[in-house]
Amino acid sequence: MKQGKRVGIVGAGNVGATIAYSLAMLGSCHEIILRDNKIDVARGKALDMSQAASAVRSHTVVKVAESMEELVNCDVVVVTAGSPRLPGMSRDDLLMINANITKEVIEGIAKYSPDAIIIMVSNPLDAMTYVALKESGFDRSRVIGMAGILDSSRMAAFIQEKLGYGGGQIRASVMGGHGDDMVPLPRYSTVAGVPLTDVLSEGEIAEIVDRTRHGGAEIVGYLKTGSAYYAPAKSTAIMVEAILKDTKQIYPCAVYLEGEYGFNDVVSGVPVMLGANGAEKIIEITLNAAEQEMFKSSCASVETLIKTLNKNKFFEGK
Ligand code: 2OP
Repeated sequence: MKQGKRVGIVGAGNVGATIAYSLAMLGSCHEIILRDNKIDVARGKALDMSQAASAVRSHTVVKVAESMEELVNCDVVVVTAGSPRLPGMSRDDLLMINANITKEVIEGIAKYSPDAIIIMVSNPLDAMTYVALKESGFDRSRVIGMAGILDSSRMAAFIQEKLGYGGGQIRASVMGGHGDDMVPLPRYSTVAGVPLTDVLSEGEIAEIVDRTRHGGAEIVGYLKTGSAYYAPAKSTAIMVEAILKDTKQIYPCAVYLEGEYGFNDVVSGVPVMLGANGAEKIIEITLNAAEQEMFKSSCASVETLIKTLNKNKFFEGK
C-alpha cells in the first residue's frame, strides 16, 4: 500500500545515494525507493539512510527495488543511472552508452510509474533528458533535467570565493545546456541585489564564467575516479522538494523547447516554474545579442548529440 509521497531513485551510486540522503533528512516524502543493479549495496545504503532518518526524527523510509517492477506508483523518479564521467572523458563521450541505459530505465518508469515526474541527472544531461522524453511519451512538463541549479550554485560559490563576502546572498544565473558552452549570465547575477558588475571587474567576471563552465571537470580532476555528487545531489533534491510541495518556485532546469527562445525540438536549460505538475511554466527572460548567440551555440551542441542519436537510429520506431 502506498502512503504519502514516494520518490524512486534509479542508480544508487554517489549521486543517487546522496539525493536519497538529502531527501531523507528533509523528510519531504514518505518513501524513497532505490533501484540499482548492485542490490546488496543499495540495501546497505537504504538501511543506513533509514537509520539516519530515525536519528533526525524524519518519517522517511528508504527501501530497495529489486527490479523496475517494484518502482511502482512513484510521484517522482530521479534517474542517475549511467556510466560516470571519468578523467579525460567529455560528457559527450558518454552519449551512446548512457542513451541505451536511459532507454531501458525509462521504459520501466513509463510502465510502472506512469504518472511520475521524471528528473534526469545522467550525462550528457540535455541529450539524456531528450531521450527520456521521447522514450516515455510523457508530456514535456513531466520530464525535466537537473543542471541549471548546479551550474548556478557553482557560479555563486565562485563569486563568493572571488569577493570574500556575500555568502548566502548571491543569486547567480546560468542558462543553456550542461556542457562547456553553458551560458552563465553575469547580467542576471546579484549579490544581495547588487549587480555583479558593480562589485567585480570585467576580468574577474570573465574568470568566474570560465571556471563555472568547467566546474564539473575541475572536481573530476581532483577526484580522479568519478565526478561531483554533493552539489549535483542537493540541486536535484531541491527540484524534488519543489515538485512534492508544489512550491511554484522558479529554477533553471533543462526542458524540451517548443518555440521558447526561438528553439524547437531540443532540450536546454531555461528558468522554469516547478510545481506538482512538474515544469508548469517556462519563463522567457530577455537576452541581449551576445547572450542569445551563446544560447544558440549551446543549443547547437545538444542538437549535434541528438543528430548522432538519430544517425545511430536510436529513435527508430518511435
Ligand atoms: C558535473 O557537472 C559531471 O556533469 C557532472 O559535475
